[in-house]
Amino acid sequence: MTNEAVRVENLTFQYPDTEEEVLKNINFTLHFGEILGIVGPTGAGKSTLAMCLNGLVPQVIEGELRGDVFVKEKNINETSVAEISEHVGFVFQEPENQLSQMTIEEEIAFGMGNLGVAREEMINRIKESLEQVGLSGFEKRSPLALSGGQQQRLAIASVMAMRPSIMIMDEPTSMLDPKGKNEVYDVLQNLKEFNMTGIIIDHEVERIATYCDKILVLDEGQVKAFGSPEEVFTQIELLQQLQLNAPQVTGFLYQYNRQFNRRAKLATTVGEAVTSFESEYN
Ligand SMILES: Nc1ncnc2c1ncn2[C@@H]1O[C@H](COP(=O)(O)OP(=O)(O)OP(=O)(O)O)[C@@H](O)[C@H]1O
Ligand SMILES: [Mg+2]
Repeated sequence: MTNEAVRVENLTFQYPDTEEEVLKNINFTLHFGEILGIVGPTGAGKSTLAMCLNGLVPQVIEGELRGDVFVKEKNINETSVAEISEHVGFVFQEPENQLSQMTIEEEIAFGMGNLGVAREEMINRIKESLEQVGLSGFEKRSPLALSGGQQQRLAIASVMAMRPSIMIMDEPTSMLDPKGKNEVYDVLQNLKEFNMTGIIIDHEVERIATYCDKILVLDEGQVKAFGSPEEVFTQIELLQQLQLNAPQVTGFLYQYNRQFNRRAKLATTVGEAVTSFESEYN
């Protein structure tokens, strides 16, 4: 058995009322235990790509799709959205759209109910997932009484409780403070320990470079780069061309090399950058 979580082959997609394809011949593979970060300018097609991975596009949100998406080696063309949802958890860009219940515990139970999780087990998972996102003690409150950031964390908890083996999060940290952002990335890190897979769409390149194993750069529906953070985020000129940020430390080393005619290795995290700078400086 291979370790393949997601494989996308020649994926092209067009919404019914648009003139152009929003995804153009996308190819990539992701393995269990890997975390993928997707970056790209607004309108690049990031959310559309994410929704192709749980079948929402084109099964619910219609359009013309060509190519293939495999989840756990099964072509999702042949799988219903309900069946895919047992494997693929999805946290949407706007959390309030995902919340429908009267209380927070009901909210978390809702998704599990659809999967047929037993009551006893549900109670354990509600407790555990609220702990994981820092919302313990909020069980009886209304989801609508939460702040935007708390709603975002509740949406994550609801998905986590369903124990998907692949977890997709579309800009889950946009409304969170630095502590909340770290908590979301810690959740992703935990997935790795259980040999699960995470896909996160985010503009936080520093965190993405630190936590993700693979980076996919999407622009105008095309993959412009795919590889390790080092392979992708050191392509400073490409990123500049797309008006995307590289991690600040990478930009610093790039600028240092140019200005002082140095050859420090372009690192993408603070720890690696310190080592790189020190060995070049001396
Ligand atoms: N339901 C839809 N019908 C028609 N066009 C759509 C639909 N949803 C998105 N689009 C268009 O498809 C393109 C890609 O949108 P998408 O939301 O996937 O981009 P994104 O990279 O997630 O952007 P953002 O960073 O703003 O979230 C955009 O041009 C958008 O206007
Ligand atoms: Mg989006």
